[in-house]
Amino acid sequence: MLYLSAADVERAIGEDHAIFVEALEAALRAQAAGDVVQPLKPYLRRPERPHPTDRIIAMPAYVGGDVRLSGMKWIGSAHDNQRTRGLPRASAVIVLNDADSAYPLALMDGSVVSAWRTAAVSALACRFLAPAGRRLAVLGTGLLARTHLSLLRASWGRPDGVDVYDIAPGHGEAFARWAEEKHDLTVTVHDDPAACLRDADVVLAVTTAPESWIPAEWVPRGSLFLNISLADPMPDVVLTSDKIVVDCYEQVMRPGKLLHSMAEQGTFGPNRCHADLSDLVTGSRPGRETPEETIFFNPVGQAIGDIACAAAVYRRALGQGVGIHLER
Ligand SMILES: NC(=O)c1ccc[n+]([C@@H]2O[C@H](COP(=O)([O-])OP(=O)(O)OC[C@H]3O[C@@H](n4cnc5c(N)ncnc54)[C@H](O)[C@@H]3O)[C@@H](O)[C@H]2O)c1
Repeated sequence: MLYLSAADVERAIGEDHAIFVEALEAALRAQAAGDVVQPLKPYLRRPERPHPTDRIIAMPAYVGGDVRLSGMKWIGSAHDNQRTRGLPRASAVIVLNDADSAYPLALMDGSVVSAWRTAAVSALACRFLAPAGRRLAVLGTGLLARTHLSLLRASWGRPDGVDVYDIAPGHGEAFARWAEEKHDLTVTVHDDPAACLRDADVVLAVTTAPESWIPAEWVPRGSLFLNISLADPMPDVVLTSDKIVVDCYEQVMRPGKLLHSMAEQGTFGPNRCHADLSDLVTGSRPGRETPEETIFFNPVGQAIGDIACAAAVYRRALGQGVGIHLER
């Protein structure tokens, strides 16, 4: 069994983060063809840690097509890791299993793969749903904001402008310094979240806020809203959108998710959901059709994406001789 640490995963990928978009696309095509198995994820939560992002999630899947591997991501999260422990919010391991023997082939750090997989989902969404303009507003400037800016810049295009807002003092400024050094991008840091969104073509919500707080009146008409976090947008953001696209309807409708709670209140249902991301990739449903459309995209994370991305890393690491072979 090949073991890949986070550093090994980074070494195998280098700067070629586009492999995650390709791997994700392969997984979504396999999904559209009915060639995946993806059980609903169990959430391990403890009553004494009620924050919505405090949990460990088991995400098993089989992905067919060219990927042809099974596996599972086991991802833990604590919203206060950085502030109280000096650790990143999320940690994960991924196990890849042979599709036929079911034997484990690889064990790798999953936090790097997970962060890039999530950005790859948004990069694909931008391909089909973003308007022509490229002004990006980012709410929350943690790890996900960084992988998103990097991958959107590489696969969607260099933003015309980047506006950010973060509730924690200094986080927005640190992100701006990183974006300048890493990507030669000038970032405007806002104290007022409404001002941050005012001119946005694409809004990226990646905070750890426990409750919804962004009203529809802040969201520009004709924009694409990428709701990656658990909360952030208020229900009226969904209600005033012309199209609602998700990664997987079945997973989005789990208790605790925004669209599920709206369905409980009778304000959301399957007829309001325009498409799954796999429908856009295969062309069975259209993406953006007019510049005026306001589009809401809500991915909650699919294991098939993690397994396909981890498979791409594993195959690349094998080819490069990266990692350590462990005896069973
Ligand atoms: N949909 C998916 O597939 C998926 C996958 C991975 C992570 N996520 C979600 O993405 C979010 C971000 O993850 P991360 O790893 O970047 O977290 P992080 O802890 O690294 O960063 C979160 C940032 O949000 C800021 N923040 C918190 N509350 C805020 C508020 N009310 N307004 C503005 N900023 C606020 C924090 O100060 C911090 O800088 C989490 O909610 C996580 O659950 C979703």
